[in-house]
Amino acid sequence: MHKNRFTRIGFILAAAGSAVGLGNIWKFPYIAGENGGGVFVLVYLATVLFIGMSIFIGEVLLGSYAHKDAVTTFETHSPSKKKYWKFSGFTFLTGVFILSFYAVVVGWIFNYVVVAATALPANVQEAESVFMSLLQKDVWTQIFYYTLAFIVIAYTISRGVKKGIEKLNNILMPTLIIILAVLLIYSVQLDGFTQALSFMFSPNIDKFKSGSIIVAVGHAFFTLSIGMVTILTYAASLDKGVNIVKASLTIVIMDTLIAIVAGLIIFSILFSAGQEPGKGAGLVFITLPAVFYEMGSIGTVLAIAFFVALAFAAVTSAVSVLEPTVMYLVERRGMKRKKATYSVSVIFYIIGIFTLLSNTTAFSSLLTFGGKNLFDWFDFISAAILMPIGGIIVAVFVGYIMDQKVAREALVPYIGENLYKVWLFIMRVVAPIAVLLVMLNEMGVISF
Ligand code: PHE
Repeated sequence: MHKNRFTRIGFILAAAGSAVGLGNIWKFPYIAGENGGGVFVLVYLATVLFIGMSIFIGEVLLGSYAHKDAVTTFETHSPSKKKYWKFSGFTFLTGVFILSFYAVVVGWIFNYVVVAATALPANVQEAESVFMSLLQKDVWTQIFYYTLAFIVIAYTISRGVKKGIEKLNNILMPTLIIILAVLLIYSVQLDGFTQALSFMFSPNIDKFKSGSIIVAVGHAFFTLSIGMVTILTYAASLDKGVNIVKASLTIVIMDTLIAIVAGLIIFSILFSAGQEPGKGAGLVFITLPAVFYEMGSIGTVLAIAFFVALAFAAVTSAVSVLEPTVMYLVERRGMKRKKATYSVSVIFYIIGIFTLLSNTTAFSSLLTFGGKNLFDWFDFISAAILMPIGGIIVAVFVGYIMDQKVAREALVPYIGENLYKVWLFIMRVVAPIAVLLVMLNEMGVISF
């Protein structure tokens, strides 16, 4: 076995660690809440299972076949006259947008582990003022935790695939799963559980706004970490001989289950306390802490468990956002891993400071344009635009550009000829067309 590569289980945990993150536990419940639950969840699930999973398999296929950084991977697979396809590898630059708001949220979470352990806010008003003052006024507290988050992320990446990424995920992912399982068992017994179930799964067409579809589709890409060569890069460190379809399926199912479980936990707790899920991005930082407080000492334990789980999920994802850029610098530019990590981290860190400041009262007007501040723009640009475009690129590349023998030989032994054809059809036709139509529709270019 190659010395700096994942074991099979190491890869599954690391890729699942990348997929399962803020998207599942922080974002999914609040965007589902904002978009009325039901129909939104169904569009998201359909996109994940058909389009998302196919592209996920495509990225794992490319990565595990080439064993190289993303740019080199696209380059080696391009036909000789179409070497410009190598530029697809640079979709790792989407990571700049993601990490610069993602790491800010990781900072809030680190802060909330402390809040949970020391002083939960006593009611929703107080919770709102705690969160809003962190966000808008306590700039230094925010910068402190944000810096801490970046140090953890950069340190892990600087240690490399085996000693950094694999080790981190081997510890954090199983712990995360155990915590969520315990929280789920607790939630099932709450009065609000059935209401949570029906909120998430009964289609409520009225609440499904225009704009909801692109949020749902964008979220499907975001939650699986596809469309910015993260999964491709992790798969490049995977040894040969692994059933990539089974591994991909396991990861996608894990990611989906964890989003649903997180939603059920959060909505059960909210509904049991008579609260509504409409608080937007503040849902888990405002409503939830106040509800935990009302529960007394068990609430404190649950709150700590919840924020620790959220921190674990977020750190394992944040790390994976950085890896593609670092791997590129190491393999193509001959940099030492440590130097590559620290250079990239410093740049990402500084951009993230602007994102962080865009939420503060002092700087928000400077950093707000077109009705969104920088934080919301980066979230929107990466999830709803860049990652779907990156996904289309992978689908078209794997479906049309690269030698078809590669995919056929890698997949047919595992899934057979018929399923392979279904997969290819999704890559060639369904994924590019569906995602493109949704994007054009939402941008107002076409309307259906
Ligand atoms: N999938 C992660 C989440 O759901 C976010 C992410 C996006 C991670 C892109 C890596 C790359 O939180």
